[in-house]
Amino acid sequence: MNKIIIAIDGHSSCGKSTMAKDLAKKIGYRYIDTGAMYRAITLYCIQNGLFSGEELNVEELKKAISTIKIDFKFNPETGKSDTYLNGMNVEKDIRTMEVANKVSIVSAIGFVRHAMVVQQQEMGKEKGIVMDGRDIGTVVFPNAELKIFVTARPEVRAQRRLDELISKGENANFEEVLENVQKRDLIDSTRAESPLKQAEDAFVLDNSDITIEQQNEWLLENYQLRIKNKKISIN
Ligand code: DC
Repeated sequence: MNKIIIAIDGHSSCGKSTMAKDLAKKIGYRYIDTGAMYRAITLYCIQNGLFSGEELNVEELKKAISTIKIDFKFNPETGKSDTYLNGMNVEKDIRTMEVANKVSIVSAIGFVRHAMVVQQQEMGKEKGIVMDGRDIGTVVFPNAELKIFVTARPEVRAQRRLDELISKGENANFEEVLENVQKRDLIDSTRAESPLKQAEDAFVLDNSDITIEQQNEWLLENYQLRIKNKKISIN
């Protein structure tokens, strides 16, 4: 059967990666978390002293960008892919509040986005991928066969992110996380470079009041319908 590209975009902390990962597993596709790539670049900047407070040394990052390598490798222990930054497993380090607070600065830079988009398009060459992010259906794969745009109320998203942080032993409170979610929404959707916006041909899902099982079912149904339509149009 012909494989397709599935682009899942939407706001931060609305469960995009959970649904993308679950679908990829179910249908035997590769899952790519593009947010992890921007987080890894941010971690690189932190580790290499490119930040002083909220101020980023953009010129130094520009010099380094071609030397920063990001890969994903399957971890048999967790059954998920881990993110590697220049050969080091950084899966845990890229999920901290420190990285979350700085990632919007890094992901708004044109040359960073360009470098990531090139890598993402390369990963999708053979199709058979589920990719989640902010600009997948609009910039990375504007011709993706199935596009989904996911959202949820900010308070619901903040609670989900807080639960995730706490389960990982991070110290955070609801107000701080809600502020981060709202700040990122604003920066992500108003930045000049590839702002977060819904592709015209995307299916929209607000998952504030539905369960993970319901959202997975909805997504699988949409995938199956898309595959059927594709077959009909080919024959
Ligand atoms: O999905 P996430 O929360 O892990 O993403 C981290 C940040 O990266 C988020 O603030 C927006 C940015 N991002 C982006 O600009 N483009 C993407 N394709 C994916 C993420």
